[in-house]
Amino acid sequence: MRSLSICVLGGTGFVGTQLVSRLIRDGHRVRVLTRNRDRHRRLLVLPGVELLDADVHDAVVLGELLRGRDVVVNLIGILNERGRRGTGFRRAHAELARKLTGACRSGGVPRLLQMSALGADEAGPSHYLRSKGQAERIVREDSGGVAWTIFRPSLVFGAEDSLTNRFASLLRLFPVLPLARGGARFAPVHVGDVVEAMARSLADPGTHGATLELCGPEVVTLTELVRYVARVQGLRRSVFGVPDAAGWLQAAVLEFVPGKPLSLDNFRSLGVDSLCADNGLARLGIRPASLAAIVPCFLGPGQRAAQLSLLRRRGGAHSGP
Ligand SMILES: NC(=O)c1ccc[n+]([C@@H]2O[C@H](COP(=O)([O-])OP(=O)(O)OC[C@H]3O[C@@H](n4cnc5c(N)ncnc54)[C@H](OP(=O)(O)O)[C@@H]3O)[C@@H](O)[C@H]2O)c1
Repeated sequence: MRSLSICVLGGTGFVGTQLVSRLIRDGHRVRVLTRNRDRHRRLLVLPGVELLDADVHDAVVLGELLRGRDVVVNLIGILNERGRRGTGFRRAHAELARKLTGACRSGGVPRLLQMSALGADEAGPSHYLRSKGQAERIVREDSGGVAWTIFRPSLVFGAEDSLTNRFASLLRLFPVLPLARGGARFAPVHVGDVVEAMARSLADPGTHGATLELCGPEVVTLTELVRYVARVQGLRRSVFGVPDAAGWLQAAVLEFVPGKPLSLDNFRSLGVDSLCADNGLARLGIRPASLAAIVPCFLGPGQRAAQLSLLRRRGGAHSGP
């Protein structure tokens, strides 16, 4: 495949970092737009990456930076907003999609990969799912001649993910963990498989105009997933789901804690199972990795001991008893 010039929005995040590194390995030229170049300088170790500070919400700036690119990838997504009215979600997802399709059309960009999420639906129960659904519709209706592909992953896991790592930290601190929406179901998909699907779609015209759901091989509830994270770390913990009324209360309190570990909008999103009706990975010839094949490599007890000893050698952790 010829070398493409690709602009990635959200290329500094968990999925983005992996995707950018893969695109560079495939011989493409990659421009990453970020709100804070200094914070993400580590991306510059990748040969040929161009990392630019940019306000992607400014349609003029976006138009200039996308003009003439072969492909645009939009990975920007938020799980929480400032406030509770949905304005932040609509801006980050729907309004950005509108600016992006406009910039692709006017700047002659022929190809657009849009990251969505399973459950995205304009009539969904949360601002997150509704705004992701709006963004999907805008991409489908407003792209003109631009060849788009929409990706809808379930929960994405990997060494740098926030969910398993956050629960791993909580489990190390607390012997008992009550979970809101513990019965919510996912088919966790490895970040490597998500990236593989996006990379393959660049060379596959069959994915033009397609919406691809992306799921891993197993279906688990949130409670089962967190219990699994405890087992992998060699921890005996009590993990259980709480009734919805208690879960709602937990979210209502936690959304005022700095960093919003759980918000009411997250709680509402978790009311919809994140499962595939038709797994796009199979269609692309990708055999998805299981949790068991990956998670012990970054959360297993040996792994944790290795990380701690590395930190100690660097002087980054207390070495006393
Ligand atoms: N991780 C999952 O389990 C999962 C599941 C389903 C769908 N998805 C979707 O996959 C995409 C990537 O997810 P991820 O886990 O990689 O997310 P992430 O690590 O949080 O990265 C998101 C990126 O978006 C940029 N960003 C965030 N808020 C922004 C804003 N208000 N304006 C402009 N840029 C903003 C950030 O870039 P800068 O800070 O550099 O500006 C960041 O690099 C998202 O669209 C997400 O909704 C993820």
